[in-house]
Amino acid sequence: MSTTGVNLGTNGVDDHGKRHFLVAATSVVGAVGVGFVAWPFLASLQPSAKAKAAGAPVEVDISKIEDGQKVTVKWRGKPIWILKRTAKMLADLPTLNGILRDPDSNVISQQPAYAKNPTRSIKPEYLVVIGICTHLGCSPSYVPEEEATNFGLGSDWKGGFFCPCHGSKFDLAGRVLKGVPAPTNLVVPPYTYLSDTRILIGVDQKGAA
Ligand code: FES
Repeated sequence: MSTTGVNLGTNGVDDHGKRHFLVAATSVVGAVGVGFVAWPFLASLQPSAKAKAAGAPVEVDISKIEDGQKVTVKWRGKPIWILKRTAKMLADLPTLNGILRDPDSNVISQQPAYAKNPTRSIKPEYLVVIGICTHLGCSPSYVPEEEATNFGLGSDWKGGFFCPCHGSKFDLAGRVLKGVPAPTNLVVPPYTYLSDTRILIGVDQKGAA
């Protein structure tokens, strides 16, 4: 198995139709083949069946993600969201604590220890979460603050993720709001920074996959 570098230049897609498509790609350790799945993923190299079974880490170049843009890659068959949060988005997070079910990420199963912090991330500007609702597994929509009315959300919506299946809401740290069906925050997968512009999903900061 060889370790491949980051590949750039393949058309990628974000979930936010009004934004420019992201030009980026991911590479997978030992990856072969290309494929698409139901989610609007970044174009990415997919691992072999053997690598999939082993849960091969996925390497992502994050250098072209724009402020406020969310992109999706696939890891272990799951959509992994990477959101580049703006300064305003980060400033809004602590103002939401009162309406959140687990604002301090005390449910330890939902994130690695290094993401148990106010932004639920290693670097504040980049959120990395598994894009699967913790209620019954739908994939929520990314709804920036300026699009709240399009989703029937109130004027107090500071941006977040809205699950269309049963109405669960999560903030821009993947923290679940009170009074919705989802019981817990979105899951933060293990990941680590290989450099300022590259992350490896599936391997935590201590190097254990
Ligand atoms: S699956 Fe998301 S609210 Fe039910």
